[in-house]
Amino acid sequence: MAIIGNNIEKAIHLLRDGELVAIPTETVYGLAANALNEKAVLSVFSVKERPAFDPLIIHVHAISEVLKYAEAIPEKLMVLAKKFWPGPLTLLLTKKAIVPDLVTSGLPQVAVRIPDHPITLALLKEINLPLAAPSANPFGYISPTDPAHVDQQLGHKIKYILDGGPCKVGLESTIVGMENDEVVIYRLGGISIENIEREIGQVRLHINLSGDPKAPGQLKSHYAPRKPLYVGDVCELSKIYGYKKTSLILFGNTDIEIHSVKTYQLSATSNTYEAALKLFKILHDADADASEIVIAPLLPETGLGPAINDRLKRASVQ
Ligand code: TXA
Ligand code: MG
Repeated sequence: MAIIGNNIEKAIHLLRDGELVAIPTETVYGLAANALNEKAVLSVFSVKERPAFDPLIIHVHAISEVLKYAEAIPEKLMVLAKKFWPGPLTLLLTKKAIVPDLVTSGLPQVAVRIPDHPITLALLKEINLPLAAPSANPFGYISPTDPAHVDQQLGHKIKYILDGGPCKVGLESTIVGMENDEVVIYRLGGISIENIEREIGQVRLHINLSGDPKAPGQLKSHYAPRKPLYVGDVCELSKIYGYKKTSLILFGNTDIEIHSVKTYQLSATSNTYEAALKLFKILHDADADASEIVIAPLLPETGLGPAINDRLKRASVQ
């Protein structure tokens, strides 16, 4: 198992040496490597068992740092950067040559974000290197929102987990880029569509649910527990699958009566931000409990509802 601690100096030492360190962010824990060290980046792919066609996000601590690795930030994306950074926003920008092709899987754009976590911001300032960091989970499995999740999943493969407590957003960043003059959202995440559109007007969604590997990171089988997860109308699903030992996930609806081994509540007050915060922890817990299957609802399409539904659909049996 890895050492879990809050020693930033130790993390810096390991990262400078080309080792991997799990780092806290406000979204999910990341599996970090020096983005400029190709050998270290290669080990991110191997530790995660992640295909090389799925590029990595680099993390920096300031907009001035972003411009060391990207050519420019287009005006509309700059509005978002100034409003939401540090925070759960990732921008796709034309990369500079200094960024290894391995990081971007050969694509001309690099994904960059400034995470909103005091420990990781302090680490980034001091190390003065960009950190490539995908979510710190084995490829396709549930993302980690606390150090124990990382340790359970990857603790045997890495030396150190920087402990920043539980993540306060709980869903990965929203990924935004530009095509011609249009702003496009490629992954729904911790910043809602409404909040983005309030700043820059209407944007286009290009979210791929088909499982087409040409759309990196948007593979259908993702965020998945090991046991079958069924999503939709929980009462209907329970009628079909309820003969199996069931874990039930609810969003509000506290008076629902379905027989289950265990019931988890995403948000008793039907708040999608609270649900985002709890989603991956509940999926981890449901995966470890005594049930055979997990049943979950789809959320209303407001706030972080669409991002949560995206995760649930990708994680489910279809
Ligand atoms: O919140 C987050 O974004 C977390 C934390 C650790 O920062 N990171 C994260 O990384 O979710 P990951 O690797 O699990 O998902 C990043 C996704 C990739 O799967 C890919 O879809 C997209 O970001 N991406 C990264 N670089 C890209 C690029 N150059 N072009 C297109 N998509 C890219
Ligand atoms: Mg991931």
